[in-house]
Amino acid sequence: MPRMRYLITGGAGFLGSHVADALVAGDHEVTILDDFSTGKHDNVEHLIASGAVDLVEGSVTDATLVDDLMADCDCCLHLASAVGVKLVVARPLETLRRIVQGTDVVISAASRNDKRVVFASTSEVYGKSSSEEALHEDSDRVLGSAFKSRWSYAIAKSYGEAIAHGYHREHGADTRVVRLFNTIGPRQRDTYGMVVPRFVRRAIVGDDLSVYGDGSQSRCFLHVRDAVAAILAVSTHEGATGRAFNVGNPQPITILGLAERVIERVGSSSGITFVPYEEAYEDGFEELGKRRPDTTALHSLVGWRPMCTLDDALDDVIDFQRAELAMEAGQLESRDPSSSWPTPILVQPAAPARAA
Ligand SMILES: NC(=O)c1ccc[n+]([C@@H]2O[C@H](COP(=O)([O-])OP(=O)(O)OC[C@H]3O[C@@H](n4cnc5c(N)ncnc54)[C@H](O)[C@@H]3O)[C@@H](O)[C@H]2O)c1
Repeated sequence: MPRMRYLITGGAGFLGSHVADALVAGDHEVTILDDFSTGKHDNVEHLIASGAVDLVEGSVTDATLVDDLMADCDCCLHLASAVGVKLVVARPLETLRRIVQGTDVVISAASRNDKRVVFASTSEVYGKSSSEEALHEDSDRVLGSAFKSRWSYAIAKSYGEAIAHGYHREHGADTRVVRLFNTIGPRQRDTYGMVVPRFVRRAIVGDDLSVYGDGSQSRCFLHVRDAVAAILAVSTHEGATGRAFNVGNPQPITILGLAERVIERVGSSSGITFVPYEEAYEDGFEELGKRRPDTTALHSLVGWRPMCTLDDALDDVIDFQRAELAMEAGQLESRDPSSSWPTPILVQPAAPARAA
């Protein structure tokens, strides 16, 4: 595989830092652009210290900066985004601006510089779904009112997808979209309402786990290791250009079932309490029923399928959160940063076209 220089926007975040680990392990060069709004130095300091990664602190809304960095890379993985239901509901305008402006800047710069770009979208773009059917890339979308702040994220990410598609169709840009369903693993924090790290931390310390609503809503959780393999496969396969791919674990679990599973894996004596949505979130929240990905498109193209089980993922999150809690309590000075792994790259890529 040819050595390439990747620009990862949002590379100091949960997913971005794991992608950076995998690329460095594959001997690629990486530049991270991050404004540290939700990213953490902890996630990447082992990479920076090793000299393997350049870190640029700045925003994807800075068009001049993005243009300079884009000119210098072979491929951009655009992961920078406002993330997390709590953040989205609390600050919908910021969510919209951060995603819409940032994506506009990044994708137009990629197109101008003739560089490949992968846009990280989300299963949220499918909106509410009460169907038992798995969602495929062409499924209809049913969004709630634009006046419900929960939908700001889906609106903004849908716009990002449309921009990516527009640049591909009208300017021949090499854009690709990954629609990520819930992804979990080490380095995901509970600060912005992420359910798995929240449950795991409470189970470790023996507090009750708060399930919002009646817990019958279901989700599918993918190990970040499998998500990274999917993102890299989409970024490298020639046949992925101009397309969108679901990336998720097709196996659903209810949130109540998840709480029970976390308690069991931790070996915790925690109980479960039910919290009405109106108490859990500010006004503007709307719950989704079920959401399950059909990943046939990605499987057909590159042979991708999840390799890790939910229990594998939960066990890795539990190890990470135990170390986090020990560090917070001053019982552990530093964590072994090598929660990285050699991520399988499923296809032999061809180097993207360079600017003339
Ligand atoms: N984790 C999931 O389950 C999931 C699901 C669907 C989609 N996604 C998408 O994957 C991507 C990564 O998400 P994550 O879970 O790693 O979240 P994260 O919050 O850990 O990472 C997002 C990163 O983007 C950075 N960022 C935000 N705004 C920025 C800006 N204007 N300029 C530069 N950097 C900025 C943040 O500081 C952070 O490091 C996002 O685009 C998200 O929408 C994630």
